[in-house]
Amino acid sequence: MSKKLLYTLLTILLLTSVILVACSSSNETETPDQPADTTSSTTNTSESCAPNCTYQDLTLCYPQLGAESDWRTANTASIKETAEQLGIKQLIFSDAQQKQENQISAVRACIAQGVDVIALPPVVEDGWDAVLTEAKNAGIPVIIVDRSVSADSSLYASHIGSNMVLEGERAAEEFNKLLADGGAILELSGTTGSGAAVGRADGLRNKLNSNITILDSQTGNFTRAEALPVMQAFLQKYQPGVDFQGVFIHNDDMGIGAIEALKAAGVNPGDLVIVSVDGTRGGFQAMVDGWFQADVECNPLLGPQVFEMALKLMNGETIEREVLTNETVYYPENAAELLPSRQY
Ligand code: AHR
Repeated sequence: MSKKLLYTLLTILLLTSVILVACSSSNETETPDQPADTTSSTTNTSESCAPNCTYQDLTLCYPQLGAESDWRTANTASIKETAEQLGIKQLIFSDAQQKQENQISAVRACIAQGVDVIALPPVVEDGWDAVLTEAKNAGIPVIIVDRSVSADSSLYASHIGSNMVLEGERAAEEFNKLLADGGAILELSGTTGSGAAVGRADGLRNKLNSNITILDSQTGNFTRAEALPVMQAFLQKYQPGVDFQGVFIHNDDMGIGAIEALKAAGVNPGDLVIVSVDGTRGGFQAMVDGWFQADVECNPLLGPQVFEMALKLMNGETIEREVLTNETVYYPENAAELLPSRQY
């Protein structure tokens, strides 16, 4: 090989390696750059893909409020399974353990990360104005999921969930039928200050016949564990069948806790008129066993609606400001038949 040829080959080799190094180092710098400016990068992503963004472009934040009930477990599963099925870019999920401060921190972390959409199931109604304003200022749309917030509706894009007042009204109608001659009921209510508890309590009072009185109302925080001692305390104070003839229970998990207390006190299925809310498998079993006389549906399977709306928001499409779930009331007559096909 001549000296000239060797020199030419060495030059080509050197130039090739310079080009390769330049290419690889430009990939490396892009990746670390992203976390440093995630807000603008995500904003750029939606801006660059809108109006043709797909689920593969979507990063959705779901700061779940907790894992207090079977309803909540089903809601979490619906969000996670739908995210998986649709193949979204990223689901940022957290569990606030029924503490609003944890939810607020999770929302703030998602804002800092520059997610495309936040879907927030708020543990309580009040106290969201500041963090919703922060999301709005960052250009991140928020969908309120499940329970409502008291914040001004200009601070969020939409609400998807149940009509909690209607659920309470439906429960009242069951008591009106089952206690037609009047009587007294107890109320085991959900988390104090939550849209679900406030709505159901209001609905009950809206429609309950005047010959039925609410003897007492205490919170069981939507959990079995907390409902049991509340029912025990009720039973120490009031005699079933004498002082009260019925119990309105804001969710099935608390109903199951209450049944434990009733059984221990020697109360039998059918001694009291019990109306619960949710329509979980546990609630259906309580109807089959004769404890619940009606179970007002509250549907937790909101994943498909949440993601459909999130994508519309990302693409700048018009969305409905409120999407209420279509629900019904379940009865013991066909509970055994429906139980095997219940999804939650
Ligand atoms: O907000 C929905 C309510 O929250 C459900 O009725 C209850 O089971 C859950 O904990």
